[in-house]
Amino acid sequence: MKILITGGAGFIGSAVVRQAIAAGHEVVNVDALTYAACLDNLASIADNRNYAFYHENIRDRRAMDRVLAETRPDAIMHLAAESHVDRSIDGPGVFIETNVTGTYTLLEAARAYWQANDKSASFRFHHISTDEVYGSLGADGMFTEETPYSPRSPYSASKAASDHLVRAWGETFGLPILVTNCSNNYGPYHFPEKLIPVVILNALAGKPIPVYGAGENIRDWLYVEDHADALLTVLTRGTVGRTYNIGGENEVRNIDLVRTICGLLDELRPKTTPYADQIIFVTDRPGHDLRYAIDPTRIRNELGWRPAVALEEGLRRTVRWYIDNQTWWSTLQTRDGVGRRLGTLRPPAMSETATAKI
Ligand SMILES: NC(=O)c1ccc[n+]([C@@H]2O[C@H](COP(=O)([O-])OP(=O)(O)OC[C@H]3O[C@@H](n4cnc5c(N)ncnc54)[C@H](O)[C@@H]3O)[C@@H](O)[C@H]2O)c1
Repeated sequence: MKILITGGAGFIGSAVVRQAIAAGHEVVNVDALTYAACLDNLASIADNRNYAFYHENIRDRRAMDRVLAETRPDAIMHLAAESHVDRSIDGPGVFIETNVTGTYTLLEAARAYWQANDKSASFRFHHISTDEVYGSLGADGMFTEETPYSPRSPYSASKAASDHLVRAWGETFGLPILVTNCSNNYGPYHFPEKLIPVVILNALAGKPIPVYGAGENIRDWLYVEDHADALLTVLTRGTVGRTYNIGGENEVRNIDLVRTICGLLDELRPKTTPYADQIIFVTDRPGHDLRYAIDPTRIRNELGWRPAVALEEGLRRTVRWYIDNQTWWSTLQTRDGVGRRLGTLRPPAMSETATAKI
């Protein structure tokens, strides 16, 4: 199958590209190379004859039309997005432009391409989204595919809007769509502004390890390679028009997660004092959702998929990877905003302008 993957130079997109190539698919990677992108994530497959890269923005309709006409994919997997909640608090504009308007632009380009190809029944538009669209859970319950949307951050609201657009294009125009909503991912190549890399890198640097609030927030963590595997499973075997929730069945409080990582560092990179001594509690993120938990019954029962990597094992692999790949992360630490506390409700600028350029 020839798959056009948007956002293939990001954390999850690059895992999907690597796995798709390994599985024998042809891949066309379309990425605008924002601050969050890293082409080094793709070094292992960059010269593969089944791989092509287009440095383009999904908000550029003419570029999307041209890439589709030139490459003629059998499917689109849409991962390109602004993805960091804290950045969406400081500057929501680019989240609307990429996640909402960009998805709309890509959908229209995909629809035109699909219609020009006699509305091929085998074509797929697979939209990759997050469990954050469902809002925040209390102590009980889980997100199912029927849970009403209740996004609470600019990021999750923009992803919710994009999910609605994709489903509308399926219902109204008959575009063969698939939607997946996944829990928090972690693993190698995770951009150094997200929780798990921040914990590892601050610990290694001897800096304070910041935990938001009291660390009581609960997330359902999924190893990124498992997510990539689930996405390719849904793409190739999922029922058109259907939504699949993807989760790790690994619920854990942030503070327990951070302590586990510190324990792994004590073992893998020992020093005289425990890394957990570096933990500090900082002011919570505004609107911080308390708990996310995915009910993965549908993808397990209908497609036979379940995660292969347990949290303890995935964290061990991840900590080891960051210890072994300093060149990768030290380059990214110089990028704009990395290493600074973001999303603290500073007064907004008079005129907010998008940072990504077409
Ligand atoms: N990270 C998670 O835990 C998680 C969980 C569930 C779902 N998701 C979703 O998965 C997708 C990928 O997440 P990620 O963590 O890999 O993100 P990421 O921020 O690491 O990567 C995003 C990629 O998209 C590219 N991009 C951004 N704007 C673009 C534009 N306008 N045109 C073309 N390319 C653009 C960036 O250059 C980057 O390579 C997102 O849609 C996100 O909402 C993420």
